This record gives sequence, structure tokens and C-alpha cells, in this order.
Amino acid sequence: MATILAIETSCDETAVAIVKNREVYSSIVASQIAVHRNYGGVVPEVASRQHLENIDHCIAQALSETNLDWQDIDGVAATCAPGLVGALLVGVTAAKTLASLHQKPFLGIHHLEGHIYASYLSEPQLEPPFLCLLVSGGHTSWIYVKDCGNYEVLGRTRDDAAGEAFDKVARLLHLGYPGGPEIDRVAKTGNPQRFALPEGKIGLPEGGYHPYDCSFSGLKTAVLRLVEKLQQQGNGDLPVEDIAASFQETVARSLTKRAIACATDFSLKTIVVGGGVAANSCLRKHLKAAAAVHGFIVHFPPLKFCTDNAAMIGCAAADHFNRGHRSNLTLGVKSRMSVTDVMELY
Ligand code: KG4
Ligand code: ZN
Repeated sequence: MATILAIETSCDETAVAIVKNREVYSSIVASQIAVHRNYGGVVPEVASRQHLENIDHCIAQALSETNLDWQDIDGVAATCAPGLVGALLVGVTAAKTLASLHQKPFLGIHHLEGHIYASYLSEPQLEPPFLCLLVSGGHTSWIYVKDCGNYEVLGRTRDDAAGEAFDKVARLLHLGYPGGPEIDRVAKTGNPQRFALPEGKIGLPEGGYHPYDCSFSGLKTAVLRLVEKLQQQGNGDLPVEDIAASFQETVARSLTKRAIACATDFSLKTIVVGGGVAANSCLRKHLKAAAAVHGFIVHFPPLKFCTDNAAMIGCAAADHFNRGHRSNLTLGVKSRMSVTDVMELY
């Protein structure tokens, strides 16, 4: 049993949590959304500065919400890749400093492995193998989870991530930031069948298509063209609700279809979903319905563990810690790193 203090600063949330294996003792998330909203997206330099301002307070609060002190903590972990380099550095430096000061082991954690581990927080009985559909602002992949640190990426987006597509389409429709929750909200009163949009199949030279990879840039362009056409026709206000609902429906169908194909082809009985887009109501509806038809179990973590948080990082760190994995204090941060390479961190 390992009790871990974990830090997550890969993007725009400063998060600190204390986790014992799969049990969350405290989870603090200081969101920077209000700051970045003024710019319509995350500004890396601003994010780093905000992390610096927030981190000490978040660490103190995470500790004070438990009855633990440093002698109860077995290790200190931080997200070290992938993400914004300046932002990652704040969390990793804080974690290394605490680890040295209190003479605890340090563990660097891969952000996407954290999103995979989010499902264990609400489903402590869950064990690999299973399929993880990982849909965040920066990543979209279908991952075969074989064991701790052992992952195979079965499919991925060739261009924009699902969350990125939500954010860009929301900007096009003059909705707020971040775009995903806004599209989800306005789509509730829209007609998802009104506009037929392309699903983004990846073509193969022999005329077939790659079954698990997808592309969202064509879909994004199709929404842009649709908006331009409707504006030129000039029949009153843009049908924002119907466009949002049709776009969301297309993304949800594309993600679901590939998740079912991966689980079927690799004989995996359970599908878990991670990342911010797992909060999407249309994706939840489609995937649950398809899983029921095909006899798969599907788990969506609660919303607070779908978006970036440190509890998922602590959960991943505890599993690595229990297996004897430790990172060197010289470990650096990386803006890009495949989840298939996580064992390089130990
Ligand atoms: O996992 P996450 O918090 O951060 C990254 O690691 O990227 O994901 C953030 C992404 C954003 O693009 C946001 O628009 C999207 O998740 N998102 C949603 C919803 N809530 C958040 N997308 C669709 N529907 C939602 N309800
Ligand atoms: Zn994330």
C-alpha cells in the first residue's frame, strides 16, 4: 500500500492530490480557465506563471484536508510528460524539492497514463486487460491496457484531438472557452440529424481505410464551410444549436465506432473512457448504447476525474511505487512522449 502526494501541472490546471493506491484522500484543482478565457485558449507563459502562484497553496491545502503529515507519505509524484514544458517544470521541480527535503522517492508520471488510471478511482475492482478510449484536449487514442506501464496504441487521430476540434468549432460558432462544455450545452436543444458531416476516415492506398485511426481536421473544415454557406444564404441567425448537435453527433459516432471495433478485434470485454471529452453527454449516450448492444462493460469516470486532476496521477504513481519503480532526480520534462514509452521514466 502506497500513499502518494501527486502534482499535475501539464496544462492549465494546478492540481495536487493525496492518494492511497486507488483511494483519494484529497484532490485540489486550481483551475486557470478564467485567466485563459480572456485569450480564447491556453497561453503557455501565463500558465507557467499561474502554476507558480498556485502550487504552494495547493500542496498545503491537499495536506491539510487529510490527517496525514510527511511521515505518512511514501512517495512524491508529478506529471513530467507530455505537456507544456514551462508548466510541467513547475510541478516536477516542486515534487523533486519535496522528495529531497523529506527524503521520499520521486516518480515522474506520464499524463496519459494518469488519464487511464482515473477509471480505477471510481472502479477500484477494475483490472487490465481493457480498452481505454482516451479523449482529451491534446490527445485522442484507443489504447490496449495490458498492465501497469504496458500499453499498445491501437488507433489515434492523425491531426486534431477530439477536444481540440470541440474548442475550434466552438470558437467558430462564437461560443465560450473551453468549447467542449459549451457545445454540449447548446447541442441539447439542437437537431443532430440536420447537417450531414464527414466522419474522417483515414484512406489506405488500396482503397480501404484504417479502421482505428481517425481525423478531425476534415470535419472541422466541413463545419467552417457549412457556417460560411449559411452566412452567405443569410436566412437570419445561424442555427448554432443544430450545427453544434450535428458536429457532436459525428464526433461521438466516430469515437464509439472505433472503440467497439478495437474491443471486438482484441477480445477486450471492458471499455473505459478518460480525458476531458469523456464528460460529453452525446459520447456517453452513444458508447453506453453500443456497449450494451455488443455486450461490453463501459466505465466513465466521474467528471472531476475526467478533466485534469492530480488524483489520477497519484493513482498511477502508487501502482508504479508498489512495483518498485522509482525515477531519478535528474529526470527531465518532455513536451511529447508516447504512452508506450512510460517505462523509460524509471
Ligand atoms: O483532459 P483535459 O482536461 O485536458 C487535456 O489533457 O487536454 O481535456 C480538456 C478538453 C477540452 O478540449 C474541453 O473542451 C474538453 O476536454 N471537454 C469537453 C467537455 N468537457 C470538457 N468536450 C466535449 N464535451 C464536454 N462536455
Ligand atoms: Zn489531460
